[in-house]
Amino acid sequence: MANDGVEKGEETEQMIEKEAVQEAGGARGDAKEIRAVVLSGYGGLNKLRVTKKAMPEPQGRDIKIRVKACGLNFIDLMVRQGNIDNPPKTPLVPGFECSGIVEGLGDTAKGFEIGDRVMAFVNYSSWGEVVCTPMEFVYKIPDDMGYPEAAAFPMNFVTAYMMLFEVANLREGMSVLVHSAGGGVGQAVAQLCSTIPDVTVFGTASSFKHEAIKDSITHLIDRNADYVQEVKKVSPDGVDIVLDCLCGENTGKGLGLLKPLGTYILYGSSNMVTGETKSFFSFAKSWWQVEKVNPIKLYEENKVMAGFSLLNLLFKQSRSDQVRAVMDKLLALYSQKKIKPLVDSLWALEEVKEAMQRIHDRGNIGKLILDVEKTPTPLMANDSTETSEAGEEEEEHEGDNGSKERTPFIQ
Ligand SMILES: NC(=O)c1ccc[n+]([C@@H]2O[C@H](COP(=O)([O-])OP(=O)(O)OC[C@H]3O[C@@H](n4cnc5c(N)ncnc54)[C@H](OP(=O)(O)O)[C@@H]3O)[C@@H](O)[C@H]2O)c1
Repeated sequence: MANDGVEKGEETEQMIEKEAVQEAGGARGDAKEIRAVVLSGYGGLNKLRVTKKAMPEPQGRDIKIRVKACGLNFIDLMVRQGNIDNPPKTPLVPGFECSGIVEGLGDTAKGFEIGDRVMAFVNYSSWGEVVCTPMEFVYKIPDDMGYPEAAAFPMNFVTAYMMLFEVANLREGMSVLVHSAGGGVGQAVAQLCSTIPDVTVFGTASSFKHEAIKDSITHLIDRNADYVQEVKKVSPDGVDIVLDCLCGENTGKGLGLLKPLGTYILYGSSNMVTGETKSFFSFAKSWWQVEKVNPIKLYEENKVMAGFSLLNLLFKQSRSDQVRAVMDKLLALYSQKKIKPLVDSLWALEEVKEAMQRIHDRGNIGKLILDVEKTPTPLMANDSTETSEAGEEEEEHEGDNGSKERTPFIQ
């Protein structure tokens, strides 16, 4: 689990760690191969395996990171299924964020030294022992932030912050509706809302999570309940901000719930994931149900409709400076102890299937982390640890779900 605070001697340990990387980094860096999770093709969990890959080397502005922990996000399930726009060619190493130690720098990289503790966004490939990513996507981590916490930080908190403060302009006294309130982004939204006085948060989540997250959400609603009615019982006028990661029929419901001058933001399409493999029916249904919005109606009703995609902002729209400014604000909030990533559980790379299954099963409260140095439990070890080459074709069946009946390992 995440390192919860600065323990005695931790600073010294970090200095020793830094020196050890500087001196012995060469020895580790000499290794020609790394372990990485590879997605051999789009589909079910059986498309994932841990295999050996060539050691990546930094080019130009790249920072080479010895990875300690990686974030596992809902979008990784969608990538695995091929449920995204323009999916890249497989085989590929998934993963969009990690934390670790700087082990090398490209010729033109600056601002970092070998041994620095960092967290980073990566445009795929973070789920391995070593990764290279351009310096604009790398951030130093505070001394009292553990590696699992750091891997849980960038995607969830930057997304939550930019939606609340840069798109929707959250202010004192406002109200917010967020779905999947017990998940990674949901909990980041709840924590950031608590930094502004008198903000009311409505959150939908599976009911077994309610006890665990009740202090972070003002009004918890079961995910199967009629949330429009539940919100209106408390606030007949609706809410100021709707954060919709579900899509489909929820776009119309969310827009309908907005107060005048309220903002609806679509930032995900979790509803499209209805099984282990991509379902064209769920995909089509979700798109079909999306409210077709006439701007004239928005004008008449004084409503704002927006969309947000952090990965596009970073990797397609070159807004890394804007994201760095947000990260600076978030790190200040972290140092003031106003926000803190909630880590659900740690998993070895070899346990990636079980970790993903936990999200499919809606079991997570907070963020799942792949801990690169964790040894897999014996139950998992003979399942997903294989050294076959990526790209190998396997049979794929809709709903094929070999690992579903196993109890996931939870720390
Ligand atoms: N646009 C962006 O930049 C951006 C960035 C990060 C995340 N996102 C989106 O934000 C959402 C949350 O992401 P996250 O990474 O923090 O994940 P997460 O919320 O931790 O995701 C897992 C939770 O989502 C809920 N859920 C809703 N539909 C589900 C489904 N079809 N299958 C399984 N679980 C489902 C479940 O909670 P309950 O059962 O309690 O509802 C589940 O425990 C996702 O839609 C993701 O794509 C968008």
